[in-house]
Amino acid sequence: MSNLDLLRAAGRDDKIKLHGPADFAGMRKAGLLTAEALDMLVPHVKPGVTTQTIDTLVLEFALDHKAIPATLNYRGYTHATCTSINHVVCHGIPSDKPLREGDIVNIDVTLIVDGWHGDTSRMYAVGPISRRAARLIEVTYESLAHGIAAVKPGNTTGHIGHAIQTYAEGQRCSVVRDFCGHGLGRLFHDRPNILHYGEAGEGVTLETGMFFTIEPMINLGKATVKVLSDGWTAVTRDRELSAQCEHTIGVTRDGCEIFTLSPAGLFMPPFETR
Ligand code: MF3
Ligand code: CO
Ligand code: CO
Repeated sequence: MSNLDLLRAAGRDDKIKLHGPADFAGMRKAGLLTAEALDMLVPHVKPGVTTQTIDTLVLEFALDHKAIPATLNYRGYTHATCTSINHVVCHGIPSDKPLREGDIVNIDVTLIVDGWHGDTSRMYAVGPISRRAARLIEVTYESLAHGIAAVKPGNTTGHIGHAIQTYAEGQRCSVVRDFCGHGLGRLFHDRPNILHYGEAGEGVTLETGMFFTIEPMINLGKATVKVLSDGWTAVTRDRELSAQCEHTIGVTRDGCEIFTLSPAGLFMPPFETR
């Protein structure tokens, strides 16, 4: 979600939607299929493969399963995935440029199943990667885990951001400020905004039945980003590596349910270091 979305969302003062059991069932199905799409990609992400090929695989997988990629024709975006390589922070556009050994790539997919949105992303390593890239990936997944652990009714969105920021900065990494997680369900991007930094007690109080994503972008260098002239691709200003991972969750009575868990146990795809 961009700063512009953030401003738009801030103008809306309607109550955040609280979902019931049938809605949880819908999200479970959408989240599972989206996770399965990312599982399907694991053997395909290797040197020489283009991100356009990956995008086509996801589109075909979606259509084969009666799902629609939410990013297709979303605000002028025309692909089924975002593929963000190395210093690309998010919203990288699939292209005919082949992946190279040592690249790290985030693949972000949102599938709509029976009207419900499952939104998830992972980091994939292209062959063996550097130790520092591997460390960044590990810090990013652990940051998301800390954010998820802060989700329970009575806590606020600020508890989530604070948990992520404290952990990531403690590992000498930085948290991107320009994009955030978001409410979703029947809509792709809704309230509340889930900032990946902040203070406990700030923001919206979490309640059972809220659905949202947590999707921290973590950098090895400085947090600052810029968007390229294509209007989408966000990169680190210092061109240092950036990583991201994302889950869609629902708040439950005692914590949360993660809708986008990998049935194959591949949420963090395995990687080798060189
Ligand atoms: N899936 C992204 C998210 O996590 C949004 C991508 S919007 C696009 O919110 F238009 F760039 F595809
Ligand atoms: Co998202
Ligand atoms: Co996403």
